[in-house]
Amino acid sequence: SVIATRDKEGQLQVLLNTCRHRGNAVCRAEQGHASSFMCTYHGWTYNLQGKLVGVPGSRDLYHGELDRDNWGLIRAPHVESYKGFVFANMDPDAPPLEEYLGEVGKVGLSLIAEQGDMEVIDGVQKYVIGCNWKLAVDNLFDYYHPQVSHASSSLIGGLTGRSNTAGPRRTGNNEHLVMLGEYGHAIGGPTYNAERQKELNQPEQRWRERPGVAEELGPVGITSTGHPNIFPNLWITVSGQLSLRLPKGPTKTEIWWFTLLDRKLPTEEWERLRKLAIHVFGPAGVLEQEDGENWDQSTRGTQGVIARRYPLNFSMGLGHGEISKDDTGAGHVFTKVNEHAQLWTYRAWAEWMAAESWKELKERHSLVPDIV
Ligand code: FES
Ligand code: FE
Repeated sequence: SVIATRDKEGQLQVLLNTCRHRGNAVCRAEQGHASSFMCTYHGWTYNLQGKLVGVPGSRDLYHGELDRDNWGLIRAPHVESYKGFVFANMDPDAPPLEEYLGEVGKVGLSLIAEQGDMEVIDGVQKYVIGCNWKLAVDNLFDYYHPQVSHASSSLIGGLTGRSNTAGPRRTGNNEHLVMLGEYGHAIGGPTYNAERQKELNQPEQRWRERPGVAEELGPVGITSTGHPNIFPNLWITVSGQLSLRLPKGPTKTEIWWFTLLDRKLPTEEWERLRKLAIHVFGPAGVLEQEDGENWDQSTRGTQGVIARRYPLNFSMGLGHGEISKDDTGAGHVFTKVNEHAQLWTYRAWAEWMAAESWKELKERHSLVPDIV
């Protein structure tokens, strides 16, 4: 648990929410304003930079010997932001944010940041699904499942608010784009072609035509309406939402949904999209319920002693994806519905698990291959 705050100089601070005396949480609010953090156990008090500024009994009980400078809250050594998204890392050896994100991570964040003058609206939806977090990540790249898993929500117009008796897109869609980046970042899903423009029922996608956006996303990124995942667990949706999948054990994942909207939208449209966000993802979201049930059942189904002895199939399109590389080093492949991004994620995960340090991961992680 961490506290993300701005200090009196306006600097971002990310502090471990753990009192240095007995470990109690010094902040219990989800959000708000504070000028200091007083621990509710014995009253040690920290300022907005995490410095220990108050200790009851400092003179009498500690005999004036407690060196406050050594007992501040633990601060994240890396706190950086990209287009307003703040990332922290507790490991001093981690690479700088932009190096870590690389082209694919940056395009992923740009696909939401460039949609307009974006604000995170109040109310983060949080809940737990009984699944392994990797299944949720696997699913965000999965365009094989919608016609089956989401048949019912499609019929009631779950995605658009308009009913769609034709059902979801067929899986035969040939025009998919996968972008693979270092450290496991990936973007996968349909390309922004004429058919997709019609299906997405513009004007929601008109932001792509604004001056400067094509340059920010690059010639390949601008054609993507797929789903980016900032490795390991930050999913960005086409519709402008952001989801963190936090592992709470092998069979439990806490999901956080943030909704971002363009603050320049007319009030009615803003309100329509806010409501739609609640009805698509989150605990009341039709897609989330359909997906979540599958992740829960897949997690149960693979837990058994016998089930664990047998592999699962990940062969769709394997060996048929020829990667093109642009001069940024980012790899991409135009293909049919596929499992390339999932496999890339699992490979990265295995490498992260095996590496003893950032140094080792930097040296040994997979670079984008020529064929997937
Ligand atoms: Fe925080 Fe004792 S645990 S003051
Ligand atoms: Fe789904």
